[in-house]
Amino acid sequence: MKDIVLQAKNLHKSYKTPDNLQILKGISLTLKKNESIAIMGSSGAGKTTLLHILGTLESFDSGEISILDSACSDNEIRNKHIGFIFQSYNLLEDLTLLENILIPALIARKNIASKSIANKRAFLLLKEVGLTKRKNHLAKELSGGEKQRATIARAFLNDPDIILADEPSGNLDFENSKIIHKLLIESVKKYNKSLIVATHDKKLASLCDKIFYLENGKFLK
Ligand SMILES: Nc1ncnc2c1ncn2[C@@H]1O[C@H](COP(=O)(O)OP(=O)(O)O)[C@@H](O)[C@H]1O
Ligand SMILES: [Mg+2]
Repeated sequence: MKDIVLQAKNLHKSYKTPDNLQILKGISLTLKKNESIAIMGSSGAGKTTLLHILGTLESFDSGEISILDSACSDNEIRNKHIGFIFQSYNLLEDLTLLENILIPALIARKNIASKSIANKRAFLLLKEVGLTKRKNHLAKELSGGEKQRATIARAFLNDPDIILADEPSGNLDFENSKIIHKLLIESVKKYNKSLIVATHDKKLASLCDKIFYLENGKFLK
C-alpha cells in the first residue's frame, strides 16, 4: 500500500550465545506515513534490538522487512530514509556540533561546504533545537540535554522518511526529557515524518498514535 513506509512481518531474532538467547519471537509491525508508534517494555525486552533491525543496523534470523523502495541496499536505505536518535547520543565528542550534525550528509556523499544545501539545513535545524549559539562548541562541551537536542537535528538532516528513536530521554532529567519529547514529536509532525520510539516514558508514549508492549519476544495483544 502506498501510505506504508515500513512493514515488518514475523521477525525472529536470537543472539548466538551459549544459551541461544531468543529475543524476538514473531514481531509484525506496520508504520504508515505521518504515524508515530511507541514501543514499551522492560529493560532487556529487546526494544533496542528491534529498532536496530528495523533500521537495517542488525541482522535477523527470519521474517521480512520492507522499507519504501526496498530495492536499494541497506546503506542506501539508511542514508535516504532513516534518521536515528540514540539514548547515549553517539556524537563524535571531538567534533563541533555543526560538524556532528552534518555527518549524515557526509555519509550520503552530499556537499557540506559552507553555502551548500546540507549546511543551510544544518543551521536551520540547529536553530529549531535552540543550539545556534553552540554550533562551534565541541560535542564534549555540551550538557546531556543539549547533546540529545543535537541528535534530533542530526536525525532530520538528510530529510529521512522514518525517525527511529531509542529511549531518547533515557539519560535525561525530568525537565530536559520534557523538552526532548516536545521537540521530537513537534519535529516529526512539522516535517511529516513517521516515528518509532522505544521509551519507558508513559507521557512520551501517550503522545504517539499507537503503543506496542514488547514482552517475551512478542507484542502483547
Ligand atoms: N550483541 C548481543 N549479544 C548477545 N546478547 C545481546 C546482544 N545485544 C543484546 N543482547 C541481549 O538481548 C536482550 C535484549 O536487549 P536489548 O534489545 O538491548 O533490550 P532493551 O533495549 O529492551 O533493553 C538483553 O538480554 C541483552 O542482554
Ligand atoms: Mg535498549
